[in-house]
Amino acid sequence: MDTSGPVPPTRRLSTGEREQAIDRSAPVLPPALEIDENNYFENNAPPEYLDELARQCEEFVKMHGTGRIVLVTSGGTTVPLENQTVRFIDNFSAGTRGATSAEYFLENGYAVIFLHRQFSLLPYSRHYSHSTNCFLDFMEENDGQVVVSQQYQQQMRTVLRKYRAAKDRNQLLLLPFTTINQYLHTLRTVSVILQSAGPRALFYLAAAVSDFFIPPSRIPEHKIQSKAGGNKLIMDLDPVPKFLNRLVERWAPGAMIISFKLETDSEILISKARQALERYSHQLVIGNLLQTRKNEIVFVEPEVPETWIRLSDEQIKDGTEIESLIIPATIERHTAWIEQSK
Ligand code: PMT
Repeated sequence: MDTSGPVPPTRRLSTGEREQAIDRSAPVLPPALEIDENNYFENNAPPEYLDELARQCEEFVKMHGTGRIVLVTSGGTTVPLENQTVRFIDNFSAGTRGATSAEYFLENGYAVIFLHRQFSLLPYSRHYSHSTNCFLDFMEENDGQVVVSQQYQQQMRTVLRKYRAAKDRNQLLLLPFTTINQYLHTLRTVSVILQSAGPRALFYLAAAVSDFFIPPSRIPEHKIQSKAGGNKLIMDLDPVPKFLNRLVERWAPGAMIISFKLETDSEILISKARQALERYSHQLVIGNLLQTRKNEIVFVEPEVPETWIRLSDEQIKDGTEIESLIIPATIERHTAWIEQSK
């Protein structure tokens, strides 16, 4: 095959086109109504395993009686393009925020339901995950025995003890999702189960949730075929109903609800977070920018000025995790919420 000849230039968007491609004025999506909820859940079947997750969740909530309980959502949801899925659209999130936050909740005595994207980072094992460190790099052979290398002993002992303590107390329930549909069905089911915990329940919604999906009636069964000659794939996605207000008003009335807002443009972060707060009537939006999310976040709450939480240069250098500051500040607000609900 002759591959010589001019290489076609990669088509890049001009600045003007790029500006038009991103609608920066787009408002926060309107809250879902009851009819949107009914339509969505009637037309999008629950995952087969949902009853089993519900059973585990009920048992877990009962076991933790009168204690505090937090639902942490973590990782990104996918939107399958085919029923027998080969391709899907993904949302950005490694699960670091969720997994790290869950650890600090556990250390503070919370029971944690960790609704996470399957194979994303998990509390404790995240310290030795494939995406940061391969666990094998922490090991060595000593007289034929595989052991943890001397220099990692202390760090791993600390993580192991915390992990064992959480496990021994049955403090952590892991519930997985992959698709947006699995996430929404599970979120609704878990929320309703958590009603019995009233204000002791805290929702910490750090998952990156798809805003668009393909309804079942339009998903092809098999892998989409590409044809010779390079046909385009044109996708037609529907908006995912914004169920946050249904969660606040119907699924978990009485619980304290925290959502996250991720932006890349610092100019719009606060206004988008405020819009979300007003639209969905919950208690706290934690805003973060993609570029700086590990070093600073902002609490946006009704009727009070924003509160920034930032790591100092010193803290950044010594590896302090911002979640070690976010979680105590969150718990303080949850305590106030429980008090005012009495
Ligand atoms: O995991 P990391 O790599 O550490 O990244 C963490 C993070 C940056 C993804 C996280 O800190 C974060 O900001 N998560 C929220 C991402 C986001 O902006 O989501 P959103 O704007 O689509 O949704 C806002 C909130 O509404 C979220 O709390 C989401 O869980 C919730 N939501 C969204 C859509 C929907 N249909 N229902 C929802 O409940």
